[in-house]
Amino acid sequence: MAKRLLLCAPTYFDVVDRKNPYMSGDFPVDRRKARFQWEGLCAALQKSGCEIETIDAVSDLEDMVFAANQVFVGYKEGLERFIVPSRMVYASRQREVPFYVEWFRKRGYKVINLELGDDCLEGHGDLLWHPDGSRIYAGYGFRSTRGGVEKFSTAMAKMGIPVFPLQLVDPFCYHLDTCFCPLNNDAVLICSSAYSSDALETLPKFWKRIHKLSAEEAHRFIGNGIVANGNYLTPYLTPNLQTILEQEGLTPVVVETTEFEKAGGSLFCMKAFLP
Ligand code: ARG
Repeated sequence: MAKRLLLCAPTYFDVVDRKNPYMSGDFPVDRRKARFQWEGLCAALQKSGCEIETIDAVSDLEDMVFAANQVFVGYKEGLERFIVPSRMVYASRQREVPFYVEWFRKRGYKVINLELGDDCLEGHGDLLWHPDGSRIYAGYGFRSTRGGVEKFSTAMAKMGIPVFPLQLVDPFCYHLDTCFCPLNNDAVLICSSAYSSDALETLPKFWKRIHKLSAEEAHRFIGNGIVANGNYLTPYLTPNLQTILEQEGLTPVVVETTEFEKAGGSLFCMKAFLP
């Protein structure tokens, strides 16, 4: 089945502050190049059989291109499609949320608002589905808070969806999607040093094969790829990744994202999967 994804063009994309350690601001964003790279991503996704939907970019929302963060997109057989709006840590990103919520609401998604209080939850930056939809992995520590993940778990439990919290400890892997990438139902790509020892111990319960990226690879967003119909879209290819993908029967497709890396994001961050 073709995957459907939601993306947002980088019309107003920029690095204006330091939300994560990649955003030094030392290398200004080349917006034309960013647009070119974003179009390259769209083309690679379409070539991999994906259907793309877009949401309009909004001025002053410099990170809106990172479409993975504003809502968690939920689905389960027998249930309505739903979203859980995020409470982002940073104010400019918090302002993105209503635009995404509206996009989904208009398309018939039920909106489940959590009483997050001071807690944060950053959508699919930190909340990742097992590919078969049987459970959710939830990173916390830098952006989503432990409390936010607990409130999310309680809401998902009511729908019979288990959530497994994973504590993150490497500031360069501040979102779970920078150090955790399911390749199929049995295999996951991780960067071990990004997790607390407790988190690391729980992973073998869920995966037959755990493939390791070095911290250096993870910091180049090699674990922030997109699996689409037998392809693995990645910003860089290393011999280690090549070997892992061969073992899992996936074909690497390199898609350049250097402009977006200046903001601490790459391929996975730039889309939301739609059910
Ligand atoms: N500059 C953005 C931020 O710090 C990057 C978000 C990357 N998104 C992700 N899913 N990892 O919020």
